[in-house]
Amino acid sequence: MEIVLSGIRPTGNLHLGNYFGAVKNFIKMQEENKCFFFIADYHSLTTHPTPADLHGNVKQVLVEYLATGLDPEKSTIYIQSDLPEIAELYLFLNMNAYMGELERVTTFKDKARKQPENINAGLLTYPSLMAADIIIHKANKVPVGKDQEQHLEMTRTFARRFNRMYKEDFFPIPTAYNFGEELVKVPGLDGTGKMGKSEGEGNAVFLADDPTTIRKKVMRALTDAGPTEPNQQKPDYIDNLFSLMKLVSTPDAVAFFDEQYNKCAIRYGDMKKQLAEDIIVFTEPVRQRIIELSGNPEYLSKVARMGAEKAHESARKTINEVREIIGFRAF
Ligand code: TYM
Repeated sequence: MEIVLSGIRPTGNLHLGNYFGAVKNFIKMQEENKCFFFIADYHSLTTHPTPADLHGNVKQVLVEYLATGLDPEKSTIYIQSDLPEIAELYLFLNMNAYMGELERVTTFKDKARKQPENINAGLLTYPSLMAADIIIHKANKVPVGKDQEQHLEMTRTFARRFNRMYKEDFFPIPTAYNFGEELVKVPGLDGTGKMGKSEGEGNAVFLADDPTTIRKKVMRALTDAGPTEPNQQKPDYIDNLFSLMKLVSTPDAVAFFDEQYNKCAIRYGDMKKQLAEDIIVFTEPVRQRIIELSGNPEYLSKVARMGAEKAHESARKTINEVREIIGFRAF
């Protein structure tokens, strides 16, 4: 049996990128493995949320995890800040994490460019916190989207370094996981790249969006006057629409619009209408469960307590062993 771990930063609602890049695999993985899925609230502090925003966002991700089908009986679903052991392991890992390697991480460079007024130490050491999240449960499989690949590579580096330093084969070396297939990158609607909550307005479709909002966002997606030659290569922003369609529409629908494109007969309005309706068919049941669960705070706190207890037990065991290995001993 594999030990699976993955998480999401609570900085906004879950979008289709989170779902198809990561959560969908969480749901499949929980059937046969020992799974830990958590809400990465320590991580979200790098962007300085207000206390009310922080709590609201954590609750929202918990609701949305459950609404998509994560089962608290099958998996351990918990909130990162309920496990201070993670912060302790993060501290240990930071002692062997080097400026040069941390500064080279692409997400750090991106963030530093986007928020030059707030390049804090938490941003720089994000990979060691993420490594602590993963190895605290000795996880070996990590279902994530393509954008997290480099962070996983850093986790392997830190785990190997610890093992080498203490001459112990202690931490397993984890790998990103997507059922043997390529990791996924779900594109956004604005034609600029990946779907993300911190990208521009209208780039992401959220699982909690109502049908009117979804139609509006999809109809506004960037297109052009259409191809002028048969079988012309698609520009990225058109290719993105096809990629989204492949996630939610039938293969027949995708093939139809592809053929229309190749014959220069495509009507983007029709394609977007189809895409919006297929997204709605997919998100609507999830949205209904989001509404139901949001009104059930007792259930949410029961899930959070149960998850914290199970996760705590596993984290405690690892941190006790780590303390012993490093040389912290009781007098
Ligand atoms: P976050 O919160 O940005 O995203 C959560 C998950 O969703 C995936 N994802 C996508 N996948 C495909 N296409 C997209 N457009 C897209 N947008 C987001 C991400 O790859 C991720 O799997 N650092 C992590 C959170 C984290 C974590 C961990 C993950 C903290 N500790 C330990 C795994 C293990 C992050 O910021 O994800």
